[in-house]
Amino acid sequence: MSGTAKQLLGEIEGFLAQFDITPSKFGVAAVNDGHLVAKLRKGSSVTLKTADRVRAYMASQRRAAPSQIACRATVPAAYRVLLIIGGGIAAYKCLDLIRRLRERGIAVRAVMTRAAQQFVTPLSVGALSNDRVFTELFDLDDEREIGHIRLSREADVIVVAPATADLLAKMAGGHADDLASSVLMATNKPVLVAPAMNPRMWLHPATRRNVAQLAADGIAFVGPNVGEMAERGEAGLGRMGEVPELIDAIASLLSSSAGASVSAKPLAGRHVLITSGPTQEAIDPVRYIANRSSGKQGSAIAVEAAALGARVTLVSGPTRLSDPAGVEVVHIESAREMLEAVRNALPADVAIFAAAVADWRVATQSDQKIKKSPGKNAPRLALVENPDILKAIAAERSGRRPGLVIGFAAETQNVIEFAQKKRKAKGADWIVANDVSPETGIMGGDRNAVHIISEEGVESWPELDKAEVARRLMARVASRFADARAEPA
Ligand code: C5P
Repeated sequence: MSGTAKQLLGEIEGFLAQFDITPSKFGVAAVNDGHLVAKLRKGSSVTLKTADRVRAYMASQRRAAPSQIACRATVPAAYRVLLIIGGGIAAYKCLDLIRRLRERGIAVRAVMTRAAQQFVTPLSVGALSNDRVFTELFDLDDEREIGHIRLSREADVIVVAPATADLLAKMAGGHADDLASSVLMATNKPVLVAPAMNPRMWLHPATRRNVAQLAADGIAFVGPNVGEMAERGEAGLGRMGEVPELIDAIASLLSSSAGASVSAKPLAGRHVLITSGPTQEAIDPVRYIANRSSGKQGSAIAVEAAALGARVTLVSGPTRLSDPAGVEVVHIESAREMLEAVRNALPADVAIFAAAVADWRVATQSDQKIKKSPGKNAPRLALVENPDILKAIAAERSGRRPGLVIGFAAETQNVIEFAQKKRKAKGADWIVANDVSPETGIMGGDRNAVHIISEEGVESWPELDKAEVARRLMARVASRFADARAEPA
């Protein structure tokens, strides 16, 4: 397989992943031969002319649907950050930074210096940013399609993290001998730098001069902080700022440059109410009916909602989990207690019903332990239906009904079809549907594969860990509130 074909296939695979489409949907408009991807995957070569046409097609699709690229599974990108990753051990923090920015609807495009690639790979950065990663100044394709001027033009702010002593020196001296420094020389956009280096390098007179020059040039700084260095026994001023600090600094730079409010805490001022875990329906003082729900998904959602700035009430059945920090947890046992706790917690902007509520309870609970006596038949348990909490809250009068009501649907067959019916029957706005047949291992496990069913249709997410499902779900919620600009409850 030729180098051109190999590179083109890599770009196409990235494109397919970005747009979440199969190869059969690719190429229709790009090339007459719809089997291009299949052939490339088998190792065929490709002419430069075809490669050009395919690249032009992908570029036009990206231009036409920037928000779709930004994060199909999260939120439309309102802002774009060009992240220049420098060569330092703190480069690993950029991976988390990219995720967190994208969760907030901020698209990230990355440029990596040669040294940065010693610490994190362009592959991981590209997978997280969902975009090409730019590394070379003299990459002919890049220069033709998207050069350093365009990289700068297409960003709202430029962030340099970690900003090494060398990168700061280059910036202060006006060097432009690689892609990162050329972008920084060519830009008229606000630039934020997050220095990270050994404390002695940070305190060196040369770095002091460079930092003073850059500050005078209008460059914004975040950190460095005092802390342990990667080198054994070294500590002092030089640790790169933590991701939340960087997010705050980026948000405030975006707010001032874009003239709009970009919140690092998009759910600040909102109340998010979550039910989670199983319910226990007592048979007698020692026995109960319960289910296998671990409460992990609901708890992860609570953590994420709090991280996005919401006031969070978690109404939880008995689980083995500890209470998430910064969340008000109301512990209940039965479905009726859960309903009462939920009603007490209203009003809320969002209600997410992740609990596995027992459908039935024992009609008459015994006050005393039911005795087993030899020769006597086993007791018969008469069951009555529990209140449907989701349905009840979704049916609350306007003003009391949360603006966004989200239910879960755990099914073992026909997942999407049953969940669509459930959304209507229960009056929920969205249903998060998953397959809990025993072979999936979802019930009680750490991973989840869900479909989001809403009025707009079905969005299927790949299998993710429950924390990632929570992040994506809450990013979707935040984006919905950003779109609606609804008044807090
Ligand atoms: O009817 P089913 O249990 O499949 O519905 C699932 C959704 O309804 C979940 O969001 C669950 O938390 C909610 N539910 C409820 N009260 C019930 C039963 C289910 O809130 N009694």
